[in-house]
Amino acid sequence: MAPDRTAAALRTADIVERFVSSASPAALGIATGETMQQPLAEIAGRCQRGALSLASTEVYLLDEYIGLQPDDPCSFANTVDRLLVGPTDLSPSAVHALNSHNPDLYAECDAYERRVRAAGIGLQLLGIGTNGHIAFNEPGSSLASSTRVVRLSEQTRSDNARSFPDGAQPPAVAITQGIGTILMARELLLVACGQQKAQSVARAVEGPVTRSVPASALQLHPNVTVVLDPPAASLLAGGASTGDFGVVPSLDCRATGDDRGSPSVCREFRRGLRGRRDDGGYQRA
Ligand code: F6R
Repeated sequence: MAPDRTAAALRTADIVERFVSSASPAALGIATGETMQQPLAEIAGRCQRGALSLASTEVYLLDEYIGLQPDDPCSFANTVDRLLVGPTDLSPSAVHALNSHNPDLYAECDAYERRVRAAGIGLQLLGIGTNGHIAFNEPGSSLASSTRVVRLSEQTRSDNARSFPDGAQPPAVAITQGIGTILMARELLLVACGQQKAQSVARAVEGPVTRSVPASALQLHPNVTVVLDPPAASLLAGGASTGDFGVVPSLDCRATGDDRGSPSVCREFRRGLRGRRDDGGYQRA
């Protein structure tokens, strides 16, 4: 794994650790997908080493494919079982997922939306699609949308085919929390790695807030951290300054495992209540 990507995973795990250690019970929203695998593995590793406990954490998933068998390893619920429940003290009953097998999907969406609102997500992890989606809110989604059934774009299906066994296509439909649902979380943490995310990151962070780039809705939230590896940050026009988000410090992180000892870098910036200056601007977190 590229050391810079490892640095981004370590930084993500640090932020999750800070959150779950300070809130009890902690309502943690998690995204799945390739980007999250290393951060979730790092969190699981900290639990196994006794440095962290998820015993008081309630986990809420963002989305799920419709049409996979309940035991399909590609389902997001099974991914979380494998990456977090198996190796940690997170209780299976503390994992809240969208049930895409409910024969009444509209009732499922309604009930899940209510459950997430009642929980009050404290920290929401997010990935981003190459087309700017967050969760499965594809371009064109209302920025006020709630949990619902959606049709996936061809771009997303072809991007996500890499997570499916040879030749298998991801389902065409899914169930997802809405952008409005996501924006209700107290704190958002967007993580992106790789050159293929550079354009959507730049549009989300520095472009206009628009439903054609769902992740641009993060500009409407008062407490957002963005963690990027350098390739994902490479198209940010401001370089060190990021428009609405303020300053981009470079973080030196110590990598672990094979990369132990070699410093690696991820880029992090935030707009947050803690970093807000009196003049309304934002300062380094
Ligand atoms: C999945 C989710 C998606 C992914 C996004 C990036 O739960 O919320 O929005 O975060 O599709 O996926 P990867 O990380 O596979 O590139």
